[in-house]
Amino acid sequence: MTSTASFSSDAFFIEGGTTLRGSVRVSGSKNATLPIMFASLLTEEECTVEDVPDLLDIKTACELLTNLGASYERSGKVLVFNASDLKSCEAPKEIVRKMRASVLSMGPLLARFKKAKVALPGGCSIGARPIDQHLKFFERAGAKVSIKEGYVFLEVESLEPVEFTFDLITVTGTENALLYLSRVEGRSVLRNIALEPEVMDLVEVLKKMGAKIEVEDRTAIVEGSEELGGFTHRVIPDRIEAGTLMVAIAMTGGEGTLENVNPNHLGAVIEKLTESGAKVKAFSESKLYVKGPAYKPLTIHTREYPGFPTDMQAQFMAMLSVVEGVSQIYENIFEKRFQHAHELKKMGADIILEGRKATVKGVEKLKGTVVKSTDLRASASLVLAGLIAEGCTTVTDIYHLDRGYERLEEKLKGLGACIERLPALVS
Ligand code: EPZ
Repeated sequence: MTSTASFSSDAFFIEGGTTLRGSVRVSGSKNATLPIMFASLLTEEECTVEDVPDLLDIKTACELLTNLGASYERSGKVLVFNASDLKSCEAPKEIVRKMRASVLSMGPLLARFKKAKVALPGGCSIGARPIDQHLKFFERAGAKVSIKEGYVFLEVESLEPVEFTFDLITVTGTENALLYLSRVEGRSVLRNIALEPEVMDLVEVLKKMGAKIEVEDRTAIVEGSEELGGFTHRVIPDRIEAGTLMVAIAMTGGEGTLENVNPNHLGAVIEKLTESGAKVKAFSESKLYVKGPAYKPLTIHTREYPGFPTDMQAQFMAMLSVVEGVSQIYENIFEKRFQHAHELKKMGADIILEGRKATVKGVEKLKGTVVKSTDLRASASLVLAGLIAEGCTTVTDIYHLDRGYERLEEKLKGLGACIERLPALVS
């Protein structure tokens, strides 16, 4: 299997038709690691984060932390941070542009310095992704918030406890508020919060640091402290990488075991895979077995956790594009998260888009061709489609995928996939 083509950024070259079999270890969660890294800004003591995945987004977050004056050491999957000597409270445009999650520096910087200057994260290919809820929280917490020349300026006289209810459920909005309140003495109440496992992993870390946090339904009671300590914490497994690998195995009609996975974080994904005819068995809190094929059409509604995750929508669309019958996918979280459908149609998929609804009519076969990644999970869906397509598929702009998947091609190759990374043309 060789391709002589080359592109301006890495690409994957995939020969379809293999059945995936074997065992694979899931990496630590990107979306748990990021807010936990920013929690290190809340203390002058050493913070150790374990099982950190080697990803572009993690590198960008390290760049921001060092820009602020923090230091870190990495050995393997362990990152040790020290933010005892911060020099700046600014998250610059060039870093925020690379990674929207830089917005999570807002809460810790405001709590530490009583001021913060963070570049406004733009929209991306999945939607406008405003941060109005984040700013509404900080204003309610007593901060003066202004926006000038693409930056958000926040300033607060003193750290006061607050009661706040989010208008809508936002993962990083909840995380930003928790990061801030964990350093605010007194009793604060947050309502209508996100309950994603990544948010709960951050809560565990903030409690290790000395904050008192109780979560009941979608309400968090936070008793913060100005004297937060350091922590050692192993991040939870990446449930979206796990779900992606489960779909890959099921749609190729294979069977396999995933290690370092928490089945309790994958309820909705396991439910939908089972409904489609695949077999899933949880061995323990860290191991599960999956067997394909998936052959029944589905109706999927993406919802906030514990509902079906929006980050798994693109991967299921790839799987359902060759499942006989008509599937309906409703993307209720992001207003523009169907970019992958256009690329899947280039491979022969039969997909009709109407606003937030995608109707997927199963076709006999997808045909390999050159397709373009547009965002993190879209790129994963195109790789999965390549695994089952007739002939060879080239997925370009793999930097999108490298933001959130640690050496996915190695993991898939380990399960028998014919996949090669084509290094970028040295320009
Ligand atoms: C987090 O993004 C994740 N990123 C996303 O994962 C994930 O898709 C998303 O949550 C939903 O689960 C990280 O954790 C780093 P939201 P976030 O705020 O926090 C609207 C991936 O693939 N909204 O929960 O940015 C927003 O536009 C990434 O790893 C407002 O209107 O998502 C969206 O429609 C992609 N105002 C909805 O709420 C706000 O102030 C959910 O967004 C905030 C959000």
